[in-house]
Amino acid sequence: MRARRAEMDRLVPDGGAVGASYWDSRARRFAARTAGSGARDPLLARIRRVARSSTTVLDVGAGPGRFALALAPRVAEVVAVDASPVMGSLLRRASRQAGLANVTTVTGRWEEVEVGPADVVLCSYVLPLVDDAAGFLAKLDAACRGDAYVYLSALSADAFSDPFWRHFHGKPRQPGPTYLDAVAVLAEVGIRADVEVVEVAVRTRHNSVAAAARSYREALLLPDTAEVRRELRGLLSGWLVADGNVLRPPLRSTPAAIVHWSPRPRRRT
Ligand SMILES: C[S@@+](CC[C@H](N)C(=O)[O-])C[C@H]1O[C@@H](n2cnc3c(N)ncnc32)[C@H](O)[C@@H]1O
Repeated sequence: MRARRAEMDRLVPDGGAVGASYWDSRARRFAARTAGSGARDPLLARIRRVARSSTTVLDVGAGPGRFALALAPRVAEVVAVDASPVMGSLLRRASRQAGLANVTTVTGRWEEVEVGPADVVLCSYVLPLVDDAAGFLAKLDAACRGDAYVYLSALSADAFSDPFWRHFHGKPRQPGPTYLDAVAVLAEVGIRADVEVVEVAVRTRHNSVAAAARSYREALLLPDTAEVRRELRGLLSGWLVADGNVLRPPLRSTPAAIVHWSPRPRRRT
């Protein structure tokens, strides 16, 4: 993670490649891409097996709330923590529009916020962004009374973009952590987790090759120059697949890992 972060800092020296401001600037696009997808996601089906109307849920790194919004009508309460203020405001607006009165947002990094424990704790597509995974996971564990779920891709996004990355940067990208690392770190802090690998639909769609080039330029940490844009458009137009009037990557689904554990019962203080 540190090597990958150092590479990102080198390529985007103003520090915009990670952190709350990174997510603030992407929040609306992320919300549009994920809107409504929580209800059909295998993670939701899994959580619904344990969620009751009396269940309290804590969603860490909730983003615009694809899981928070899908769970709220079925449970007592959802507390959604996110480092990005814009993500939080999008979730509050979506909750209001859906008439959900039981969703509370907390803005701040999980490592720093203080929230009470919940029956179900979930953390979806956040862990590979975290420096201190052990501390982050131990705090998730401490906040959980029943079932904890850490969700992350079982196929790195780098697998898609590796040929493009090598094309522009001349060498492979520093690899990010995987779900196997999550399981190993959990074991290090004394937590034995089970893993279910599920298939998740790829929802990325682009309205044009130019829009795709903008998105891949950001993901590949490339400078915004006419030459980069032209080259990316050329590469992407041969790779993306036309699907009706939009373009999509040439893969319909990717594997994702549900890492789950039940915290050991704690003595009440
Ligand atoms: C890829 S999005 C995932 C959003 C949502 N969980 C989902 O699966 O749709 C990652 C989110 O994690 C948030 N995030 C990243 N690091 C965080 C941290 N240390 N504490 C809290 N939120 C964090 C970002 O602001 C962003 O909204």
